[in-house]
Amino acid sequence: MTAKIIDGKRFAEDLRRRIGGHVARLKAEHGVTPGLAVVIVGEDPASQVYVASKAKQTAEVGMNSYKHELPEDTSEAALLALVEQLNADPAVHGILVQLPLPDHIDPNKVIEAIDPAKDVDCFTPANVGKVQIGLPGPVSCTPLGCLMLLRDELGSLEGKNAVIVGRSNLVGKPMMQLLLRDNCTVTVAHSRTRDLAEVVRRADIVVAAVGRPQMIKGDWIKPGAVVIDVGINRVPAPEKGEGKTRLVGDVDYAGAAEVAAAITPVPGGVGPMTIACLLANTITTASLING
Ligand code: GUN
Repeated sequence: MTAKIIDGKRFAEDLRRRIGGHVARLKAEHGVTPGLAVVIVGEDPASQVYVASKAKQTAEVGMNSYKHELPEDTSEAALLALVEQLNADPAVHGILVQLPLPDHIDPNKVIEAIDPAKDVDCFTPANVGKVQIGLPGPVSCTPLGCLMLLRDELGSLEGKNAVIVGRSNLVGKPMMQLLLRDNCTVTVAHSRTRDLAEVVRRADIVVAAVGRPQMIKGDWIKPGAVVIDVGINRVPAPEKGEGKTRLVGDVDYAGAAEVAAAITPVPGGVGPMTIACLLANTITTASLING
C-alpha cells in the first residue's frame, strides 16, 4: 500500500477562507472586528518566524493583528503588565504569548495571567478544564488541527484505537481529551512506555508528538492506519550541501507511507493547521465575548 498524503496546507487554506467569511459576518452583523495580540520576548529565530506567520495570516483573514515585540531582558513584571493591559483592551479578543520565554520569566505565571476568555492557545487551567468536561471555548490549536484532519480522513472516529506518542501539555494531553470526546479508545504512550513498537502496532490512528526525529518506524505502523505526524525536527542534510538542513517529523515517513492508509507530510501536514486553528479560536473567543 502507498499511503494517501494528507494535505494539511490545502486544508488550512480552505479553513482560513471559511474563517474569513466568519470575520466578515462578525463585522457586518455585530460591528465587531476580531483582534489577536501576539507577544514575543527575545530574538529566538524559530519563534520570530512563527510569530511573523501568525501576524500575516491574522491580517489576511480580515482580523486586527497586534504584534508586541519585547527585548530579551524584559522583566517578568513588565510582561505581566502588558498581559493585564491586553486583558483590559476591548479591541483584543485573543492573546498569545509565544513560548519559550527567556529563562528569567516563569511561563506558568504568564499563562495564568491571561484572561481565559482571551486565551486562544487554550493554555490556562480554566480552559484546559473546560476542554476536559466539554464546555464551549477555545481548544488547543495543534490537537484541534490534528482532529480536523482525522475527521476529514475517516469521518467518524468512534471505536478507533488511537495511540498518541508524547504526553506534553501542548499536544499529547489535549489530544487525548479530544480523541476521547470523539469516542476513540485512547492510549497515551511516552518515553517510558514498554514495548512502544507493539503499542503503536495496535493503533488505527497514530498521533506522533514526541519531538524525536523519525523515531516511529515504518514497521511499527499497522497496515491501513492513519498517521498524524506533529513533529517538526531540523536535521543535517549533507546531500543538499555542507551545513544544510531539512525538516523531518517524528515518524519515518518513507517507511510508514508504505503501510499506512494516509499520512501527514512534514512540512505541509499538521504545521499549517496550527495557525489556522489559532484563528478559529479567535473567532470563538470574539463570538463568546460579544455574546
Ligand atoms: N511555541 C511553539 N508553539 C506554540 C504555540 O502553539 N503557542 C505558543 N504560545 N507558543 C508556542
